[in-house]
Amino acid sequence: MLLGETVGGERRVHGDSLPATRVRPRGVLYSVAVITGPRPRLSVLGTGYLGATHAVCMTELGFEVIGLDVDAAKVDRLATGDVPFFEPGLPELLRKALDSGRLRFTASYQEVAEFADVHFVCVGTPQRRDGYAADLSHVEASFATLAPLLTRPALVVGKSTVPTGTAERMAALVASLAPGDNVEVAWNPEFLREGFAVEDTLRPDRLVFGVRSAWAEQMLRAAYAPAIDAGCPVVVTDFATAELVKAAANSFLATKISFINAMAEVCEVVHADVTKLSEALGYDNRIGRRFLHAGLGFGGGCLPKDIRAFMARAEELGADEALTFLKEVDAINMRRRARAVDLGRELLSGTYEGAKVCVWGAAFKPNSDDIRDSPALDVAATIQGEGATVVVYDPAAVGNARRAHPELVYAGSALEAAKDADLLLLLTEWAEFREMDPATLGRVVAHRRLVDGRNALKPAEWRAAGWIYRALGRP
Ligand code: UDX
Repeated sequence: MLLGETVGGERRVHGDSLPATRVRPRGVLYSVAVITGPRPRLSVLGTGYLGATHAVCMTELGFEVIGLDVDAAKVDRLATGDVPFFEPGLPELLRKALDSGRLRFTASYQEVAEFADVHFVCVGTPQRRDGYAADLSHVEASFATLAPLLTRPALVVGKSTVPTGTAERMAALVASLAPGDNVEVAWNPEFLREGFAVEDTLRPDRLVFGVRSAWAEQMLRAAYAPAIDAGCPVVVTDFATAELVKAAANSFLATKISFINAMAEVCEVVHADVTKLSEALGYDNRIGRRFLHAGLGFGGGCLPKDIRAFMARAEELGADEALTFLKEVDAINMRRRARAVDLGRELLSGTYEGAKVCVWGAAFKPNSDDIRDSPALDVAATIQGEGATVVVYDPAAVGNARRAHPELVYAGSALEAAKDADLLLLLTEWAEFREMDPATLGRVVAHRRLVDGRNALKPAEWRAAGWIYRALGRP
């Protein structure tokens, strides 16, 4: 039932009372829609990081879900309860979901089209090789392959991060390919953080529905009923605004990190301490403490490529001036990596040539095995390129790192990596590194020289144990 508008033409789906006919947009009153009745059946297209988590968590919330991937090996792994990446809590929930009988995986679009009422497109949009723009080929392929098979009412929901205008294009594509006129498109950006993906999916802090009809909104409300019932706010928008929310959120987060890293650069000049500066700023509620941690800067599969894609799209639209500042955000971020390399070189009296260097961390952040645009690996490879032997250890990301950077040496533990090192760099702040005893480590290395690239350690403790301690933005 929609309050504020009458929804006409309901049709039965799977013998239940879900609204199954598209209600065409006509100045819809978006603010209050209440869904009662049974749950829609869901599909998730693309079972990478976002899609696998979404499929598993939606099953946990009580839905029947089918996950699709074009990679048969990935389908097989997931179907046997094996999560192909590191994400705390997900393996347990995957096994539980499979045991419930409500989750299955397939490589068949036909099966997906026949099964689900709401399809979530969760495929990747990596940076294009030829520039800053996003590669939309996977998104386009998902919509284009699914649409002709949709003979029953369906809502196809884009969750992938895309440039503004994509949802509009996908809606036109679906309209031209779907056999009936009971298929509609919506956009519903995701905000999940790696390492907290399960929590962020089960209990999102907000939901954004970019929709063109009351029916689409109602279907999304049904698909997210557990979170909405638990009080999660919903913002209902047009397509362009929904797409922009994601780009704007990631730009803001990246800007906040680069702001404090720019302050770290100034701190280095005037011998001030950016960690204290950040603490003092953070007590101001208008500023807040989060994402104000200075260090090696941001990496990963989202922030760097999303701000670049946003700039590229703004340029296409003639709005590049509005986002010129993001170039500087990106530049500040990349300068931190160069600065970490410089600090290490200074500690080695001006050259890496012939030195043995230990790098702690390969993942772009702790509690992840993701090495996409990892600042840690970037620094490690640069140092190796300057003539050092670099030994890397990471609690979860060594496998991925080795595939991407076979030229580096990999160790099986933090202490093994540090053995006989002339210099140690802490570049991803895993708890294991934070908790390391400086005296124990001091007995393993050749020289007690340390660059704390994440401001993760207490300088006084390390200096008291005989270490030469250097950090970014800190005396
Ligand atoms: C990010 C967004 O947070 C998430 O909402 C979006 O959906 C995807 O992109 P994620 O890539 O998982 O999530 O990582 P996040 O925790 O945001 O960290 C990004 C990078 O910023 C990491 O490299 C991290 O080390 C760095 N970072 C974060 C800082 O350098 N300082 C900080 O204060 C916070």
